[in-house]
Amino acid sequence: MSLDRPQALDIGDPGRLEPGIHLWFAASSRRNQQLERCYSCLSPDEQDHANRFFFERDRASYVIVHALLRVALSFVSGCDPRSLLFERGRWGRPRVEAPPDALPYSFSLSHTDSLVGVALTTDGPVGIDIEPLERRIEPLGPAARHAFTDAELQWLATFEPGQMGERFLSLWTLKESYVKARGTGLFIDPTSFSFRPDEDPPAFNPPPDDTRAWDFYLLTGRPTHVTAVCSPSPRKTLFLHDGAELLFNNPLLKRRAAV
Ligand SMILES: CC(C)(COP(=O)(O)OP(=O)(O)OC[C@H]1O[C@@H](n2cnc3c(N)ncnc32)[C@H](O)[C@@H]1OP(=O)(O)O)[C@@H](O)C(=O)NCCC(=O)NCCS
Repeated sequence: MSLDRPQALDIGDPGRLEPGIHLWFAASSRRNQQLERCYSCLSPDEQDHANRFFFERDRASYVIVHALLRVALSFVSGCDPRSLLFERGRWGRPRVEAPPDALPYSFSLSHTDSLVGVALTTDGPVGIDIEPLERRIEPLGPAARHAFTDAELQWLATFEPGQMGERFLSLWTLKESYVKARGTGLFIDPTSFSFRPDEDPPAFNPPPDDTRAWDFYLLTGRPTHVTAVCSPSPRKTLFLHDGAELLFNNPLLKRRAAV
């Protein structure tokens, strides 16, 4: 699926989200002034967390993705971005705790050095994962043997060495989107379930304890990153939006958040 062109969104009219899964992407390198705006949206806990990163690039992507999440939730629910409270579940999955207007929304986020993304929906849980294609990996090395089933390793081995890296990352993002949608993170064994990412949509063989039907979306149209999204069936429409536009060019949110 190649869907990386942002669709127009009427950002002056909050709360008008079409049914489906809405994705906002933004570059994670920003000018200082923009970073400060994003930082000012965050809760004191998030600001503390941001201040503890050793590398500036990690701090920037954390600050941008958490501001983007707050601003997107604010846009769809009409609440103040800084009024949002989040709780973490048993395995670390964050969810909205307040205010009431934002409770119907499920979300997931992913941050990389160069791109961040937020997925938002009212249609049950959702998981998103983004990986940069430039990430250096050993496609059949120890990490692959830890994460992939024998069938997945055999599938990877059918590709030329130059193509294996991208296939590895497609598999890996699909796996992470699933463990995020389920809310378990990597506390479940990534070899207990498997994919065939070259089928459209990607074919999924679930772990024995999961009887729910899931749908997967692999977004490969961006030349620099691969993104996977997971949500319970039935299949939904994906809407792609420009996160920078929402963060930095939305007069309504600027007024509300005074960012
Ligand atoms: C959740 C996990 C899949 C994240 O993937 P990642 O590629 O490292 O990082 P991403 O940026 O894509 O996603 C991180 C976000 O996922 C979300 N997340 C964390 N735990 C989650 C869970 N159990 N379910 C759903 N989402 C989760 C958070 O929003 C997190 O960002 P934040 O901490 O800044 O809020 C993975 O790190 C994990 O499972 N961690 C917990 C278990 C663990 O640490 N195991 C290590 C040994 S295998």
